[in-house]
Amino acid sequence: MTTLSAAESAALAHAREVATRARGRVSPNPLVGAVILRDGRLIAEGWHEGPGLPHAEVVALRAAGAAARGATLVSTLEPCSHFGRTPPCSAAVIEAGLGRVVVGCLDPLERTRGQGVRLLRAAGIDVAVASGEDGRLSRELISAFITHAVRQRPHVMLKLATSLDGKVATRTGESQWISSPEARDLVHRMRADHDAVIVGIGTALADDPRLTARGIDGPVRQPARVVFDSQARLPLASAMVESAREVPVYVVVGTSASPDRIERLRGAGVEVIGMPTARPQVPEVLAALGQRGIQSVFVEGGARLAGAFLEANSVDVVQWFLAPMLIGGSQAPGAIGGQGVGKLADAPRLAQLVVARIGDDIACAGRVIELPRIEE
Ligand SMILES: NC(=O)c1ccc[n+]([C@@H]2O[C@H](COP(=O)([O-])OP(=O)(O)OC[C@H]3O[C@@H](n4cnc5c(N)ncnc54)[C@H](OP(=O)(O)O)[C@@H]3O)[C@@H](O)[C@H]2O)c1
Repeated sequence: MTTLSAAESAALAHAREVATRARGRVSPNPLVGAVILRDGRLIAEGWHEGPGLPHAEVVALRAAGAAARGATLVSTLEPCSHFGRTPPCSAAVIEAGLGRVVVGCLDPLERTRGQGVRLLRAAGIDVAVASGEDGRLSRELISAFITHAVRQRPHVMLKLATSLDGKVATRTGESQWISSPEARDLVHRMRADHDAVIVGIGTALADDPRLTARGIDGPVRQPARVVFDSQARLPLASAMVESAREVPVYVVVGTSASPDRIERLRGAGVEVIGMPTARPQVPEVLAALGQRGIQSVFVEGGARLAGAFLEANSVDVVQWFLAPMLIGGSQAPGAIGGQGVGKLADAPRLAQLVVARIGDDIACAGRVIELPRIEE
């Protein structure tokens, strides 16, 4: 049987949910969850807690013990076939004597893709790979890992918070706070879920943000901070530079940045990334961050940088917070700068739209760029 039963599909949804218990801690590894079903009942579960720690399948197998024999393993990701920091999971699955394995998504890394499944099948285990919505949601769970593996750049989430009429500030420049406290708390959680947070120098100069993830329960790994700053204008006395030795700061500069300013930023613990153009170009910067192992970025604006990301077709997902407030005025700034599109047919549209109420605000998230399909 290659299709999933209703119980297996529900178990896969549960495995995705347990995987997220380690959110923000597993990079550069993917989030992975696994459950073991016996006669349609869930008897064990496990998830991967981070680099060097046991994989989800092994945690679930240990929890099941002898009851795993003849049972079904449902894992969000194909069990690995290679010795990394831990022994291969497919060997553990074979040894435990499972009868069937359901996989949410194949390994996105081309050099190992499909190998775990082939090993299991060669050992006589019935293996099903999820398709349709089961497969899409399993890929979505590891969107950062997939994007980095296949596109060699980080997955990009663009976050913006506006009034209902799309303004980020009043005509006098007042912008704090448009969104609700609940939405702002969620933004801290989202920062922690990413490898890096990005802003333009306009925002860095206007708000002097720290861009750290604060007020979160449980262990938090702080995201690196990245500033698009052609001229290396980020002040040495800014909150980001002052904390650069505790949480990494990357300042991305162009060809006309003063060598003296670059040296001073470096002296303060900032990693300066030089780009070969006067103004850093979004795709090149993303490639440079990808080379540094950054798999996911959370772009927090401002308007000019948001426009540049969209015009470069470099936004995977949009996360928009809409406050039930009307600012009005043609002088009050909107959320997305740049040229914008000339024709409605060219406007990026969000797919798989999810709308939620967060405090008084409406949170709206959707995908702009489809995730790569991972096929054998
Ligand atoms: N409500 C919200 O969600 C929200 C979020 C963030 C910010 N804001 C507000 O937005 C305002 C700042 O927005 P902003 O549009 O003036 O500035 P911004 O988008 O933060 O920064 C724009 C600057 O980044 C630099 N840059 C470098 N490479 C770039 C590229 N490829 N494309 C575009 N820019 C590049 C440019 O300066 P150089 O030429 O010097 O490099 C550019 O002027 C602040 O008032 C802030 O409070 C609101």
